[in-house]
Amino acid sequence: MTSPSGRLAGKVAMVTGASSGIGKACIERFSAENATVIAVDIAKPVTEGLMGPLSSYACDVTNSDSIKEVINNISSEYGGLHIVVNSAGVSARNALSDTTDIERIWDRVIEVNLKGTFLTSMHSVPEIEKSGGGAIINLASTMGIVGYPTGLRNGYSAYPPSKGGVVQFTKTLAVDLADRGIRVNCLCPGFVETSLTESLTSDNETNNYLKGLHPMGRLGRPDEIANAALFLASDESSFITGSSLVIDGGYTAQ
Ligand SMILES: NC(=O)c1ccc[n+]([C@@H]2O[C@H](COP(=O)([O-])OP(=O)(O)OC[C@H]3O[C@@H](n4cnc5c(N)ncnc54)[C@H](O)[C@@H]3O)[C@@H](O)[C@H]2O)c1
Repeated sequence: MTSPSGRLAGKVAMVTGASSGIGKACIERFSAENATVIAVDIAKPVTEGLMGPLSSYACDVTNSDSIKEVINNISSEYGGLHIVVNSAGVSARNALSDTTDIERIWDRVIEVNLKGTFLTSMHSVPEIEKSGGGAIINLASTMGIVGYPTGLRNGYSAYPPSKGGVVQFTKTLAVDLADRGIRVNCLCPGFVETSLTESLTSDNETNNYLKGLHPMGRLGRPDEIANAALFLASDESSFITGSSLVIDGGYTAQ
């Protein structure tokens, strides 16, 4: 019997935030490259119609015990874990639906975007190590490198600080794991058309403003971010760790 081909053949990959947007594009892309893909989301992930062996878990990444249990289940059910994409995330606009309390929103954004990334990574590392090594890909943002654009004034948003934290967490963990066969990198997308940005892009004026911030004159697509995640997940990036890959149509190059 010949082994299956594909850039991720033989790899077990877990993607958080997999029900929507960038996470969903990652499970589609990784499945097409023959990975065994497991979708995790606080909302039940949509897995129908996708290629490859696939299962899903409903889990809040801010709950340490829950995400640990999911990771251990995946590892024992699929015989290991090699790739983790931390795509679960919220903006200050959609973090909490029941309040406009700026302090509670701050805490939730940091909790999901930064602590959720830390918890998922921390519980995954022993399983990835047992599996012979692998890669962690964190979703940071251009907002982890530069501040909010002037047209979206919100100096008290926790989103840029949370993503700046993800950039630094990525570097710190990458150094710690560099001699243990686990590479850790992050992606810094500009504005991407997903449910996260829908409240902005649904307004014509704001949408045009956002497009104008990107020299390419448009927002990114989830599949363009998933392609970069695939590269960082595959052995093609075998000497890359601790890096922040900007995918922003020139946004931060100006
Ligand atoms: N869309 C953009 O413009 C953009 C730009 C840069 C970075 N990012 C980052 O990329 C990641 C994915 O964003 P997206 O645009 O695909 O957003 P999205 O809203 O389309 O998808 C995010 C997913 O995360 C899930 N989620 C939220 N909280 C969770 C939790 N506590 N536990 C588990 N799952 C949870 C949601 O249910 C949703 O399915 C986020 O970290 C986001 O900050 C997005």
